[in-house]
Amino acid sequence: MRPLVEPHLQNLPVYVAGKPIEETEREYGVSNIAKLASNENCLGASPLATEAVRQALDKGHLYPDAGGYALKARLARLHDVGAANIVLGNGTNEIITLLCRALLGRDDVLLNAWPSFVVYRIGARSHGVLERVVPLKAGAYDLDSLAQVAAAERAVKLVFLANPNNPTGTCFGKDELDAFLHKVPADVVVVLDEAYADYVRRPDYQDGVAVVSRRPRTMLLRTFSKVYGLAAYRVGYGVGDPELVRLLESLRDPFNVSSLGQVAALAAIDDVEHLARSRAHNATELPRLTRALEARGMSVAPSQANFVLATLPERHHLTAAALNIELLKRALIVRPVANYDLPASLRITVGTVGENDRLLAALDAIFAVPSAGS
Ligand SMILES: Cc1ncc(COP(=O)(O)O)c(C=O)c1O
Repeated sequence: MRPLVEPHLQNLPVYVAGKPIEETEREYGVSNIAKLASNENCLGASPLATEAVRQALDKGHLYPDAGGYALKARLARLHDVGAANIVLGNGTNEIITLLCRALLGRDDVLLNAWPSFVVYRIGARSHGVLERVVPLKAGAYDLDSLAQVAAAERAVKLVFLANPNNPTGTCFGKDELDAFLHKVPADVVVVLDEAYADYVRRPDYQDGVAVVSRRPRTMLLRTFSKVYGLAAYRVGYGVGDPELVRLLESLRDPFNVSSLGQVAALAAIDDVEHLARSRAHNATELPRLTRALEARGMSVAPSQANFVLATLPERHHLTAAALNIELLKRALIVRPVANYDLPASLRITVGTVGENDRLLAALDAIFAVPSAGS
């Protein structure tokens, strides 16, 4: 019998999503769940977006605007670029996949940091392409080593930089990025994935748009899934040179961004109050959560995003996997990250004040009782 698929498709990692609320309710018999697993906005969707969606519900029989005219025009204004610089995606995920499909030939190499967003890895492997990995250094991007590899290995065609990074939340500044770009050959495509940019408080953070305008083989990625609170609608976008944008436009599915997604995103951009409230909430709760986890013996990577990577001390009486189950029993969903080769860590989204308090109280209760056999 012929093999069902090409060998490179046989053992692809499957994207592990945050555990759904309904599944957790069924499995653990709990309710009133706090989902702190997928870095969604704990304050909810932009109210202006929700209202705009309500108004658009009676248009369900019509296809979306395939070109996303109004949303592209608004994003162009937001970033001070032309509409031809913008590509819309069914979430940023789709654009990552399209970039891999469009740019990586069989002999090309994807340059990636690890651990970093697993979708880059899936994108490379699903195209049978070699992934060259540079490990994080002290929990953050090792941009020097990445630049050295990009400069030394001609096969490197595409490099993804998540800034802030997922799953660590760590972030690099303008000088580090400039030094990296200075060393990377001009024909390597650099993707700056800024899914969490709106949460960053570092004054030296570099908005990737400035890079795109001076380095054509650069693409900036943003999403409506995080600070705008619109993960359900699946809208992301890329900002890049028109040649790169046209290429992705020619490969994407015809109606890749739904009408409700376009309407919601358009309204959310102008929901200044929701954006400010979301950022302010994170600016106070992220450090509070970090300090409280550290006070409970966990080490926490310095995050600039809306989540933290918390690691149990060595020889703790619980493993991260066991701690995760104890939290699920208490109706708290966080994200185990063993699939990121971080078996002693959990990634925890910043929740509301009440959700964070519940998490901390649960940790106190769990840590107070050594498990049997320890
Ligand atoms: C670094 C990073 N990039 C992209 C995404 C994907 O976002 P979207 O919901 O737009 O596909 C995520 C989501 O978790 C992420 O962490």
